[in-house]
Amino acid sequence: MDKSINFFSNVPIKTVGDSTLNVIRAVIEMRKYSTRQLVRDNLKNMGTLPAIVKQLIEVLNNPWSSSKDLAKVISVDPVLTSRLLRLVNSAYYGFVTEIEDLQHAISLAGVNTIRSFAFCMTIFDSFFEIEKRHAFNKEKFWIHCLGVGTAAKYIAQGMRLDNPTNYFMAGLLHDIGKIFQYQFMVRDFYTVVNKAQAYKVSYFTAEKSVMDMPHTEIGRMALEEWQLPEFLRKAAMYHHEGSPDKKFPDIADIILISDNLCKSGAIGFGGDNIISGLYKPLKEKYKITDKHVEDISAKVKEEVEKFSEVINGAGTGGAGGAKQPVQGRT
Ligand SMILES: [Fe+2]
Ligand SMILES: [Fe+2]
Repeated sequence: MDKSINFFSNVPIKTVGDSTLNVIRAVIEMRKYSTRQLVRDNLKNMGTLPAIVKQLIEVLNNPWSSSKDLAKVISVDPVLTSRLLRLVNSAYYGFVTEIEDLQHAISLAGVNTIRSFAFCMTIFDSFFEIEKRHAFNKEKFWIHCLGVGTAAKYIAQGMRLDNPTNYFMAGLLHDIGKIFQYQFMVRDFYTVVNKAQAYKVSYFTAEKSVMDMPHTEIGRMALEEWQLPEFLRKAAMYHHEGSPDKKFPDIADIILISDNLCKSGAIGFGGDNIISGLYKPLKEKYKITDKHVEDISAKVKEEVEKFSEVINGAGTGGAGGAKQPVQGRT
């Protein structure tokens, strides 16, 4: 981590006694506790979530839900319905005949895919209105999340893993904690974004010196609060550190690789362009070559471009405002 933004960088640690250090530790713990409480209280206050998100979560949590159930929930929101129909009728899917019926659209595109899109569209719309002129804005962040999800899906397919759609969804939701940081602590959020740019460190590194809780943990808490599956929570929690356990041995690793693949290909912008020190060893671990990265990157760019035309009425803007990636630590 960059020493210039380290915790208590102005405190001459060697000159303070144990009691002072204990006080500092106690203050840190108290701040962590109050942030955790703040996040928990806000997440519990589901009244701030649009009703449709709550219903989507219910459908998502029910293994028996069908395309009919999903269509029923989505059709209450005409804007969302028309966006999803535009998506299914777009070049993104490339179906030959026009699809006018939502339930038909869902059965063609797949329940999992449509509910992931519906879920993310609604969450992004409700919470994330970062100014367009800011380098880290809603559109570029959308493209980042979509790019990571799409890359993860291709990697999972390449590795012949079960349910590549699950990896897609984990990628879409991996940085959801940032949305809540923006929602609950907007001043700190902008401080992190600006610090990451000024000191050329990752968002994940910069937030350690500003926030008491990283976006990874907030994301995990949000997904837990909504009772979303454990593999999604693991991806949100460990996508900067790599997979921690044998139960889900690859999900966080694959999201980490996809995240950095998007940074290196300048696909969208998730708050920084710093390439993780874990990217190279993890690529080697999963036998992902530079040629694979190149091919996946090209496919992701193509898909994201098509998608973004439907959603925003605009392309990715090439780099999505991103500058050249920088090799660095997490
Ligand atoms: Fe992240
Ligand atoms: Fe990310």
